[in-house]
Amino acid sequence: MSSLSNKSVLLGVSGGIAAYKSPDLVRRLREAGAEVRVAMSANAAQFITPLTLQAVSGRPVHHALLDQAAESGMGHIELARWADVVLVAPASANFLSGLAHGAASDLLTTVCLATTAPIVVAPAMNQQMWSNTATRDNIQLLSRRDITICGPATGDQACGETGPGRMQDPHELLAAVAAVFTTGGLAGNKVVITAGPTWEAIDPVRAITNHSSGKMGYAIAQAVAESGAEVVLVSGPTALAAPHGMRRVDVVSAREMYQAVMDEIDDTDVFIGVAAVADYRPSRNGLQKIKKHAERLTVELVKNPDILATVAALPNGPYTVGFSAETEALEQHAREKLMSKGADLIAANEVGFNKGFGVDDNALLLLDRSGSMTLPRMRKSRLARALVDEIIRRYAEHSGQDPRQAHRH
Ligand code: C5P
Repeated sequence: MSSLSNKSVLLGVSGGIAAYKSPDLVRRLREAGAEVRVAMSANAAQFITPLTLQAVSGRPVHHALLDQAAESGMGHIELARWADVVLVAPASANFLSGLAHGAASDLLTTVCLATTAPIVVAPAMNQQMWSNTATRDNIQLLSRRDITICGPATGDQACGETGPGRMQDPHELLAAVAAVFTTGGLAGNKVVITAGPTWEAIDPVRAITNHSSGKMGYAIAQAVAESGAEVVLVSGPTALAAPHGMRRVDVVSAREMYQAVMDEIDDTDVFIGVAAVADYRPSRNGLQKIKKHAERLTVELVKNPDILATVAALPNGPYTVGFSAETEALEQHAREKLMSKGADLIAANEVGFNKGFGVDDNALLLLDRSGSMTLPRMRKSRLARALVDEIIRRYAEHSGQDPRQAHRH
């Protein structure tokens, strides 16, 4: 099954008898991990009720372009921004014509015009309408604009005819949507990523840890896997499920994380340290629980190994990316970290209450020896993809090769 976890899919439903299959499609997209919102045309609402699609998507359905309620909350521009991908299924001849000619006559065509997300369409219509030169010309126009045309399938049609015009099967549509996120930019490369917090035991029941949820590291691991790399995710304790298409190594303490990374590092091309590794651990971790007799208790801490700095110092080591979580003076601290750790790239973010840790969106300042740039505040899944695009570009420059040929072994 294709994985669409953390993906925001806007399903557009236009008017055609195949709209009766849309609820099933919504269900399958959600099963694949996607968050789904539905926008439907007025004609689609003749075939299937908005209420049905609301029930299966778990979200209000959008249908009016100038709906007062929608405009104040999730208007067409917000919907267009929200989507990671737009899937229009079924795509009627009328909708495809509007899309090809830049129409903004209803919500669906307007969202398609306003979005920067990739668009996948699943044409469904009578076979004569599909074969008509006008439709053929529209399809050609759309293909030239990098719009993915999925289907139509050939077979018996609701109108009693047989031929091309049936909406493509849901599993083919899911694969087409997943393919949009598969870039191949790191194919042939091995990437090790650390994520989450570490736990440093004080005694058998207590530990020193931090607020890292692991969300950012997991989202980066997913984006790296989608770029075709072999991914090893070395994860501290989190509540997150292991993403598809990678190997997860579970660790608890900084020293375990260090060891797990070192076990993998020899043939690694890129190392991304996202984990909030505890800088110190209690010097003693007794076998018994500390009893609360004393009025004062001193826990002595000793320094943990610095995983990122160790990896960055390896002769002939991987391209290294570190994170810098700061509460103030972001750029200054990030630059110091770039130098002190010897990393190739530092991604810096602000943390504090409701910032960085545990929340769903974030912004990043990227810093390397040639300069800095900002990735503005956005959802962590999208930010992760933007960061991975930057890593791919810089890694290719760093190794002086096409990223697909940059593997050192
Ligand atoms: O020194 P600081 O903890 O601020 O550095 C953050 C960066 O260094 C992150 O990329 C983090 O994953 C990494 N790090 C590490 N090992 C440590 C401490 C931090 O890899 N012991």
